[in-house]
Amino acid sequence: MGLFTRDIESLDDLFLHQLQDMYYAEKQIIKAMPTMIDSASSEALKDALQTHLRETEQQVQRLEQVFQLQGAQAQGVECPAIDGIIDEAKDVNSEIADKSVLDSALIASAQSVEHYEISRYGTLIAWAQCLGKTDCVPLLRKTLEEEKAADAKLTGLAEQTINRRAA
Ligand SMILES: [Fe+2]
Ligand SMILES: [Fe+2]
Repeated sequence: MGLFTRDIESLDDLFLHQLQDMYYAEKQIIKAMPTMIDSASSEALKDALQTHLRETEQQVQRLEQVFQLQGAQAQGVECPAIDGIIDEAKDVNSEIADKSVLDSALIASAQSVEHYEISRYGTLIAWAQCLGKTDCVPLLRKTLEEEKAADAKLTGLAEQTINRRAA
């Protein structure tokens, strides 16, 4: 599916395309998270990221269920947006020597990922509802709730301890 071909003709096609985009994104996130976990110094941050990594693995399976409900094969399509977020995180984090500052940076990077996911799943749910794909909605909503909870947990860690430690 190229940028300048007209493979996306309907909202249904667009839904499938965005599903493929998220399938790719979640898998890239699973690849990137172990390094983030290793780089974190705060045990609470390590735990939060580890927990969300396990959730992310479940989210991939949930996307596979959504593909199945569409009668489509689960496959990813390159998502330059998530690649950009992850690449920038790697670049910035590799420049930081101070452990506490690095923890703050890791939270910022992780929250960029969560916000991207929140926007994408929000859109997928809206389109699924509009297209009458009611069987897909609970699966997508479960993942959206996990992304929001992960984001809120990171905000809590940053505001309660980690940013102050870094300041
Ligand atoms: Fe996710
Ligand atoms: Fe996430």
